[in-house]
Amino acid sequence: TILVLDFGSQYSHLITRRLRELNVYSEMLPCTQKLAELSWSPKGVILSGSPYSVYADGAPHVDPAVFELGVPVLGICYGLQMLAWHHGKNVVAGEKKEYGHANLNVQRHTSEAAHVDALFTGLENDMEVWMSHGDKLAQLPPKFVTIATTANAPFAGIAHTEKEFYGIQFHPEVTHTPRGTEVLKNFALGICKAKTDWTMGKFVDQEIQRIRNLVGEKGQVIGAVSGGVDSTVAAKLMQEAIGDRFHAILVDNGVLRLNEAQTVKETLTKHLGINLTVIDASERFLGRLKGITDDPEKKRKVIGNTFIEVFQEEAKRIAQEAQNTSRAGEIEWLLQGTLYPDVIESISFKGPSATIKTHHNVGGLLEGMHLKLIEPLRELFKDEVRVLGTKLGIPEELVWRHPFPGPGIAVRILGEVTPEQVRIAREADYIFIEEIKKAGLYRKISQAFAALLPVKAVGVMGDQRVHAQVIALRAVETTDFMTADWYPFDGEFLKRVSRRIVNEIDGVCRVVYDVTSKPPGTIEME
Ligand code: XMP
Repeated sequence: TILVLDFGSQYSHLITRRLRELNVYSEMLPCTQKLAELSWSPKGVILSGSPYSVYADGAPHVDPAVFELGVPVLGICYGLQMLAWHHGKNVVAGEKKEYGHANLNVQRHTSEAAHVDALFTGLENDMEVWMSHGDKLAQLPPKFVTIATTANAPFAGIAHTEKEFYGIQFHPEVTHTPRGTEVLKNFALGICKAKTDWTMGKFVDQEIQRIRNLVGEKGQVIGAVSGGVDSTVAAKLMQEAIGDRFHAILVDNGVLRLNEAQTVKETLTKHLGINLTVIDASERFLGRLKGITDDPEKKRKVIGNTFIEVFQEEAKRIAQEAQNTSRAGEIEWLLQGTLYPDVIESISFKGPSATIKTHHNVGGLLEGMHLKLIEPLRELFKDEVRVLGTKLGIPEELVWRHPFPGPGIAVRILGEVTPEQVRIAREADYIFIEEIKKAGLYRKISQAFAALLPVKAVGVMGDQRVHAQVIALRAVETTDFMTADWYPFDGEFLKRVSRRIVNEIDGVCRVVYDVTSKPPGTIEME
């Protein structure tokens, strides 16, 4: 196991992710971890980057015992400053902050101890790297040599001449450092001799064990599921860990996809054995959405608040039922399928000015319910969750499903949400997705849906003039959903979809295709 000590960099989790890609098991702990309290011995330690300067008030410092463990240490960015600071305290603030691409020149030291060059074994002497730092080293600490430089950082890489201590100013964990994974591999495998026996199967075993320890013999957990991959994977993991002491709740808010509640129920209960309750609250939701014509944020709030209300009622009912049967202990836990990117987003978007849309989440649940949060996917990225889902036997179709917003098609029905509008939007969406699947494009496209515009247009159908509604199709490609581009369908495909929508759905006489990227558009229309 490699110990990663986190100093708060936005990239810290990428380090553990890259190690997992190398099949190396790692554990990330806060930088304040006292090493004497660790119950296991790491094969090596990585010190992450940080938004701090080592000289700043309140800057985090590592337990100096890390340098006495007798295992290799790699300091990345702030980690390098930390390493140098503990060996000579001669870090200065760089005159120039460095951010972006840089060319790294590797310096070899064939005459020194063999370990000095080990970080760059098998790599070219010229490497493209990604820099993001304020502080930089002004001089070498005693007993260190330079192993890499850039035009702006004369000590971009340093190594201790006697011990296996390394510091690098660049970030090997980001994709902007193309050979970065090899640097981490040299450290983890070459230098630390870590085992490469980590697999997703092991993650499952460990996570199940961790959940059991956390929840105890009798504890119960509730959680909302949506039919999406994250909540389903989290729910399946809970089911494997504690069986029916996990209670999944699907709230049918009346703005789910066509036949969604039914399909999710089938898959989760029959196929995956999850203890699921479906609550049909569509009337309550649609009742409250009535009359909201021009305020997308209000739609989101109404749906979010109603969701919390319905969920709490159901949780109370389940708790009472459980008490009556004295089947188990109290419900103390709330499951959330939070992924690592959600964690970053919620950390870095604190200010109210950054709120472009209030994303629907169940965070508000915790306030009223005195529940503790359990988040088994917190360290994983989406593609890892998909691998995990497959491992847990979740059907391919669900594992590869496009994301669907919490407020559902309510934010895809521009203008007022009425049962009639819901019907039209649902049917159009169903046809569009069906055609995308038939054309073999579903996985190529990151997200696709049909939206209903709040206007009417004139058309001619069966020799009759009609005045009916307009469907807007949207399909985007993206890796992170922060930026996106519209998908370039061929004309024949669009013709086919348009013909079907106009012919098969009552009330629609036109179809348009949205050719707006994000930015300036967002993926959803509201
Ligand atoms: P936007 O529209 O902001 O969407 O470009 C980015 C991604 O987030 C999804 N999205 C939401 N997901 N609750 C969610 O759970 C929401 O309120 C919400 N709004 C947008 C959207 O579908 C896309 O994948």
